[in-house]
Amino acid sequence: MQSNSVYIETYGCQMNVADTEIVLGILKKQGFSVTDKPENADVILLNTCSVRDNAEQRIYGRIGNLKTLKYNKPGLVLGILGCMAERLKKDLIENKKVVDLVVGPDEYRRLPEYIDIAFNGDKGIRVKLSRTETYDDIEPFREDGLSAWISVMRGCDKFCTFCVVPFTRGRERSRSLASIVTELEDLSKRGFKDVSLLGQNINSYLDDKNDFADLLAAAAKVDPTMRIRFTTSHPQDLSDKLLYTIAEYPNLCNYIHLPVQSGSNRILELMNRTYTVEHYLELIEKAKKIIPGVSFSTDIISGFPTETWEDHLATIEVIKQVRYDGAYMFKYSPREGTKAYKMKDDVPEDVKSKRLQEIIDLQQQISYEKNQELIGKEEIILVEGFSKKSDEFFSGRTDTNKVVIVPVNERIKVSDYIKVRVNKATSGTLFGDYLTHIYPEKEGIALTV
Ligand code: SAH
Ligand code: SF4
Ligand code: F3S
Repeated sequence: MQSNSVYIETYGCQMNVADTEIVLGILKKQGFSVTDKPENADVILLNTCSVRDNAEQRIYGRIGNLKTLKYNKPGLVLGILGCMAERLKKDLIENKKVVDLVVGPDEYRRLPEYIDIAFNGDKGIRVKLSRTETYDDIEPFREDGLSAWISVMRGCDKFCTFCVVPFTRGRERSRSLASIVTELEDLSKRGFKDVSLLGQNINSYLDDKNDFADLLAAAAKVDPTMRIRFTTSHPQDLSDKLLYTIAEYPNLCNYIHLPVQSGSNRILELMNRTYTVEHYLELIEKAKKIIPGVSFSTDIISGFPTETWEDHLATIEVIKQVRYDGAYMFKYSPREGTKAYKMKDDVPEDVKSKRLQEIIDLQQQISYEKNQELIGKEEIILVEGFSKKSDEFFSGRTDTNKVVIVPVNERIKVSDYIKVRVNKATSGTLFGDYLTHIYPEKEGIALTV
């Protein structure tokens, strides 16, 4: 019998990317084959995101496109996974008749069973959240490559008032340290060189007595030639121990994604972020002292309910003070079921847009200036492949997550660590000349300059 084939599209954050690999691991074990062409598939799955309204609108648009495929191929199963499945539950099936299957993030183990139900012409909904599911024992399906993602914890207990994640992902729970180390060992054997550990609130990781700093130290020791990144840190839980651990291990990247969300204490309180701007800035200063050369990125929400011009200026001020290397910037989007949803979304759309644009312009200017400062400096990059634009250039990343483009030469190959001198920079990209190779397995050679 020919195996059923599955096609999956992933939206949203890296945790969804990691979940898709878990889903494919589960389905492949049950005999499904994977296709990258929706028209060849027996099952089409969309792993979805609910974080802002436009994320959901995009998925509705995609469901609309896929309708024709379904008409041409009766029996094709269309399934919605992920956060939208969890948030909208049966409404998705009731409102979108083409959807056969709705499965939330903690129910992927039973996906094969639910696909079978759908093959038999019934609609399946499975959206229970779990306090324990971590998919610890599931081997994710990964193509060979250099970069990989591992979810080390699931869920979020922070309940920021604007955010759906605690509702779509449920309570915090951590995977065992031992299983994460085993997975890292496997990735190392397969030649992976850049692994990101993921959690919505990763600093709350806890397995028995091991906290997140212990996990990072254990991860760093698996393979000194493998760079370890992590995201996302909540400013309340970033411990000194964690900062010292990052400083201690050369292959732990000197890069912290530390979302501030707003520069106004009044807004931070309304957001239930549980820190003040002063605390946040002290943390940044401390991290800079403990980890020389550390870089930061952030998330910012513009136009949260009641945000005034002064609040907005306070956000501008924080951006200027920290001088982030990068930022993800969003307009506030009211999400049903969250606390902020009950507040009036009173910042007019055009004001939100104007404030957001100011924030984006400022950040772009800062990124440009910071990259200009790197001209003439040395950086160590992992060569990841040809650049997007041309086969005459390689592209790689620094440990601070900046993309560097270098001319191809016969000494360099993909997966090498090389030292380059930066000779040109835009706000998003550095350009460099090859200097020499770096062999991080030799003790004491850091992966950062
Ligand atoms: N756990 C991470 C990020 C979760 S979602 C953290 O704590 O930072 C990623 C980002 O989306 C958030 O940091 C926030 O900036 C943004 N976001 C979440 N809900 C939003 C909403 N309702 N409107 C606009 N942006 C939102
Ligand atoms: Fe959402 Fe806040 Fe949790 Fe991040 S920490 S996922 S913003 S509730
Ligand atoms: Fe989106 Fe869910 Fe991630 S809402 S940002 S896919 S946790």
